[in-house]
Amino acid sequence: MKPAILISRTIPDGALALARQRATVDLHPGPEPLPKAELMARLKDKAGLVCLLTDRVDAEVLAAAPRLRVAANVAVGYDNIDVAAATARGIVVTNTPEVLTETTADFAWTLLTAVARRLVEADRYLRAGKFTQWELMLFLGGDIHGKTLGIIGFGRIGRTVARRARGFSMRVLYHDAVRADPATERELGAAFVDKMTLLRESDFVSLHAPLLPTTRHLIDRAELQAMKRTAYLVNTARGPLVNEAALVEALREGWIAGAALDVYEDEPRVHPGLLELNNVVLAPHIASASAETRLKMATMAVENCLAVLEGDPPKTPVNPEVLRR
Ligand code: DGY
Repeated sequence: MKPAILISRTIPDGALALARQRATVDLHPGPEPLPKAELMARLKDKAGLVCLLTDRVDAEVLAAAPRLRVAANVAVGYDNIDVAAATARGIVVTNTPEVLTETTADFAWTLLTAVARRLVEADRYLRAGKFTQWELMLFLGGDIHGKTLGIIGFGRIGRTVARRARGFSMRVLYHDAVRADPATERELGAAFVDKMTLLRESDFVSLHAPLLPTTRHLIDRAELQAMKRTAYLVNTARGPLVNEAALVEALREGWIAGAALDVYEDEPRVHPGLLELNNVVLAPHIASASAETRLKMATMAVENCLAVLEGDPPKTPVNPEVLRR
């Protein structure tokens, strides 16, 4: 008999077809996450869950799912899942690293270039019919080439962002809880520095750290005040890494030149102060949103889910200790 799984939202056709070949699928097709009570009710008889980062899979939800053996997140980040509670219950949690690395790094650069060159402001200006002549002083932005890029969080995505900096002849600084090996530093031309040095010396600061208790508000008032007045902050990681109220103050008061954000402290809510400012580019959490990559992410999550249910090791478990039991 095929195992029963819940897929918590519409996923690309190819991934859904794969799931349907090898499992009995209960699909929630709506755009909104299932309300918690419904998620719990629908998980009661399920052995597998394929979920998104907007599904809160907390200890209570897991406790309501006595047959659950795997929660496969369609995301590299998994702060939406209580991994400790899952581990205690013998539930494997998986994520989707690697397949989104290049696409997410591309988008960090998209945001970086857009904010530095004021692309969104300029687009609004043109559409408003204000482009009546070429002007020498119109939309002066900041140069990117030859500047210093500071990367906080030097995992796969951070390193891939660093690799692209070569093309812009940039100096690259990085900070991470763990220092990279010398060969990686050499290959990427990246120098390890402490966080405050990175903030003081960088023209662009790009965040790529996971959300952990220790990384919440890693960019707060003091950090924003340490940055150059001409510097830009880019966040494609997780919103709570930045104190959004402090960022609004920094952007309003000119402590930094601008910011470009794909993620927010309390998604999908965006701090109203950000919406009023021109020196910030705002995207709706789409860094990995290319058609190819979203298909790869969903397929990987389905494969992980099916692997556990068929007794095989999943490719990317985040709590592999459960598999060793
Ligand atoms: C993730 O995977 O964690 C991103 O935020 C969505 O791609």
